[in-house]
Amino acid sequence: GLKKKEVNVLCLGLDNSGKTTIINQLKPSNAQAQDIVPTIGFSIEKFKTSSLSFTVFDMSGQGRYRNLWEHYYKEGQAIIFVIDSSDKLRMVVAKEELDTLLNHPDIKHRRIPILFFANKMDLRDALSSVKVSQLLCLENIKDKPWHICASNAVQGEGLQEGVDWLQDQIR
Ligand code: GTP
Ligand code: MG
Repeated sequence: GLKKKEVNVLCLGLDNSGKTTIINQLKPSNAQAQDIVPTIGFSIEKFKTSSLSFTVFDMSGQGRYRNLWEHYYKEGQAIIFVIDSSDKLRMVVAKEELDTLLNHPDIKHRRIPILFFANKMDLRDALSSVKVSQLLCLENIKDKPWHICASNAVQGEGLQEGVDWLQDQIR
């Protein structure tokens, strides 16, 4: 068949937000890991959609590894930014990391699509995606296409909608 277009995606966000769980769900079931552990450094993963072949840089969100993110910005053609919607205490830290990303010279002037997952929507005290969007001031992002989806990565809910959006941005 036709060769799918290859796209590099950066998966970013604080530790414990659910990045690896999301990427794992997007992989074919025979390639999925059974146990997800905190990522050390980063991990390169692959998944396909109907028209695209994604190579994902699944970065660790732990503070001591966040300085690795910027080394991959140049290669990234899309960003998946994951937020733990129930982690109200660290929402401000997530915003700081997002703002640092958006102001980075390798990102700032590029029209790179950003897909946000307001993850862990299944938890009782999770904020809505609208509230997460407000707290992160996403309306201020004017020069890049962005989209936010509520998700439950453990059950795989909300992920397809997000990936469909991302695919449409890249075609
Ligand atoms: P780092 O690799 O340390 O940056 O973390 P990460 O963002 O990759 O998070 P990871 O996927 O390892 O998930 C952290 C924990 O959150 C795991 O125990 C997951 O099972 C759990 N988790 C992920 N997504 C969800 C979700 O949507 N709902 C609930 N309830 N738990 C989730
Ligand atoms: Mg991880």
